[in-house]
Amino acid sequence: MKTMKALIANEIDSIAVEEVSIASPKVGELRIKMKATGICHSDLSVINGVLPLPLPCVLGHEGAGIVEELGEGVTQFEIGDHVVLSFVPSCGECNDCHHQRPQFCTSGSTSYGKMIDGTSRVFRGDEEINVMQFLGCMAEYAVVPAISAVRINKDIPLDKAALVGCAVMTGVGAAINTAKITPGSTVAVFGCGGIGLSIIQGARLAGADKIIAIDLADNKLDMAKSFGATETINGGSENAVEKIHALTGGGCDFAFEAVGIPALMEQTYEAVRRGGTAVVVGVGKMTENMNLNALGLSLSGKTLKGSFYGDANPAVDFPKLLSLYQNGKLNLDDMVSTTYSIDEAPKAFEDMVNNVNARGVIVYD
Ligand SMILES: NC(=O)c1ccc[n+]([C@@H]2O[C@H](COP(=O)([O-])OP(=O)(O)OC[C@H]3O[C@@H](n4cnc5c(N)ncnc54)[C@H](O)[C@@H]3O)[C@@H](O)[C@H]2O)c1
Ligand SMILES: [Zn+2]
Ligand SMILES: [Zn+2]
Repeated sequence: MKTMKALIANEIDSIAVEEVSIASPKVGELRIKMKATGICHSDLSVINGVLPLPLPCVLGHEGAGIVEELGEGVTQFEIGDHVVLSFVPSCGECNDCHHQRPQFCTSGSTSYGKMIDGTSRVFRGDEEINVMQFLGCMAEYAVVPAISAVRINKDIPLDKAALVGCAVMTGVGAAINTAKITPGSTVAVFGCGGIGLSIIQGARLAGADKIIAIDLADNKLDMAKSFGATETINGGSENAVEKIHALTGGGCDFAFEAVGIPALMEQTYEAVRRGGTAVVVGVGKMTENMNLNALGLSLSGKTLKGSFYGDANPAVDFPKLLSLYQNGKLNLDDMVSTTYSIDEAPKAFEDMVNNVNARGVIVYD
């Protein structure tokens, strides 16, 4: 057992940085010395109950660190390897993995909040504490399934690499893997947080001609421009759908929702032209529904898609994204706008609510 500081969601709207114990890795697991963890809106959604995870739970699912201990049977990693953590373990053996859908791997589907074997490695006294997405990496250490880790080059700064574990993979992947944006396309992105800014970067990489960013916060719209947006709309003061139609001559080719609000999902669908593609990336509440006109979907010939984890194949896509970063084609440096210590994690969440950052990142010694 090792003691460590971790950010724990104890009950709805109640978080604390606490000292807990973490056990050694078991069969097929790794212990990671965490170096960086990004703050994602999905962590906030666990705190406020939008994502109903079993509590108490160590938050964190966007992280990078260094392999420190190998569980029995682990041969694909060595101590000292640098890794980015995937928030979905990919076993390579289930039906979805066999069908090239590792983002839907079912290896952990019956043990949410625990390790794949259904037990926990984190303890507060005798009490087992849950972890988010088999990781719980908003902590000084994390024990994770080896199939949740992807080895990366040691010359990549780990605070930048961490973002590939969620925001950048989710956003760039939504643009390139899910929507398959083509060169010269027109694109609209609702919401300019870590996910939306990454969608904008993905659209830029795919050669989109117009990239229209929509947010309520003007500082987010300024950030959107710096990552590749060609026009911006403040959705609080302007009618976004009308303006997108005016800017694109009748609707954009691709539109993305990266907030998690049903009314915006509907606007995303309305913003695209006939035959265009609307992609929902934001995660709304289980109790809410989006509302589409029953006549319109067939007659408009539009495609409405969900995108989970950017349709990622982490083992292949993480290194590709990091190579784009190293070659100056993907900007991760400006995505990390503020770093925090683990003790400052609650402040990092306040800053997320107040739209201070592109991404806030917790870093560890
Ligand atoms: N599909 C997936 O696999 C996946 C993965 C990670 C996160 N997510 C989800 O993506 C969403 C965004 O996450 P994030 O980390 O980027 O969040 P974030 O909090 O960093 O950013 C959200 C942005 O939306 C803006 N916004 C809020 N209300 C708006 C409105 N009415 N109109 C326009 N903009 C508005 C905010 O100003 C902010 O810039 C969340 O719902 C999160 O749970 C989905
Ligand atoms: Zn996330
Ligand atoms: Zn699988």
